[in-house]
Amino acid sequence: MARVLATTHLPGDPARLVPGHEWLGPAAGEAPWPRARWLGALASADALVCLLSDRVDAEALAAAPRLKVVANYAVGHDNIDLDAASARGVAVANTPDVLVEATADFTFALLLAAARRLGEGERLVRAGQWRGWAPDLLLGADVAGRTLGVIGLGRIGRAVARRAAGFAMPVVYHRGAAAPGSAARAVELDELLATSDVVTVHCPLTPATRGLLDARALAAMRPGAILVTTARGPIVDEVALCDALERGHLGGAGLDVFDDEPRVSARLLAAPRAVLAPHLGSATTTARTRMAELCITAVRDVLAGRRPPNLVNAERLAAGGRG
Ligand code: DGY
Repeated sequence: MARVLATTHLPGDPARLVPGHEWLGPAAGEAPWPRARWLGALASADALVCLLSDRVDAEALAAAPRLKVVANYAVGHDNIDLDAASARGVAVANTPDVLVEATADFTFALLLAAARRLGEGERLVRAGQWRGWAPDLLLGADVAGRTLGVIGLGRIGRAVARRAAGFAMPVVYHRGAAAPGSAARAVELDELLATSDVVTVHCPLTPATRGLLDARALAAMRPGAILVTTARGPIVDEVALCDALERGHLGGAGLDVFDDEPRVSARLLAAPRAVLAPHLGSATTTARTRMAELCITAVRDVLAGRRPPNLVNAERLAAGGRG
């Protein structure tokens, strides 16, 4: 009987969706399995359902001689060594589309919270330090009509751009492609940084985007601009971001992702203008349930000899594992 190993209990009780297979992994209410535990269980697994925080590297794949599919419970798949998986003939699938609207909504929540200093206001009220309405209390930045720069105009970036239209925000973008009929304008990164009042990051983490927003790029942003990211932490140089916030060069930051999750640097924790969220972009019941369903579809398809809809290493597999 084929064995499906899931490193975490997923919503919607997906085990029942894979009849005829043995399901291995934490039960409801149990903590996610640590790496050592799921690595040990990989020896007998035909399928792995993992989280973005599970590193499926050459070591893990070498410990999984029977493995046919890795279903990543995320759209970003920088945690998986695609070359190593493909070289072993292991299919890798992810969960696009179903989390687009949830993540775009959350991006806007962070954008507005950072621009309007919502975190500082909330802390003031909770600390019992609010002394009443004042003309100059926590003045923030306008959003309506300001320019939005989208780095990575893919599915999520385009959904954010659609929301920006409701705020009459002109959109410029770097990387990706605009939807037909969209007024979004493609520009070089330097122009985007120099002209945007809000910069939002939606590109995947790859060798080319790691550190894309480094000290130079952050310094090139407009004084008082807001940076938002719901993509992956290492795309932004966190130390340089802290410098820019501490110098007052940036007006604020809305961060859902960090360099070394769940650790958040002491400097970011101390930065009043940074709104910090614990990687919640796709965290709605609907999105997370549908992500689980997509993972299960991928597992079922591959174990039945079919190509799953969200295969991310099709070309590498076809090339026999050579990228
Ligand atoms: C993803 O899917 O890549 C998000 O970061 C979590 O939903």
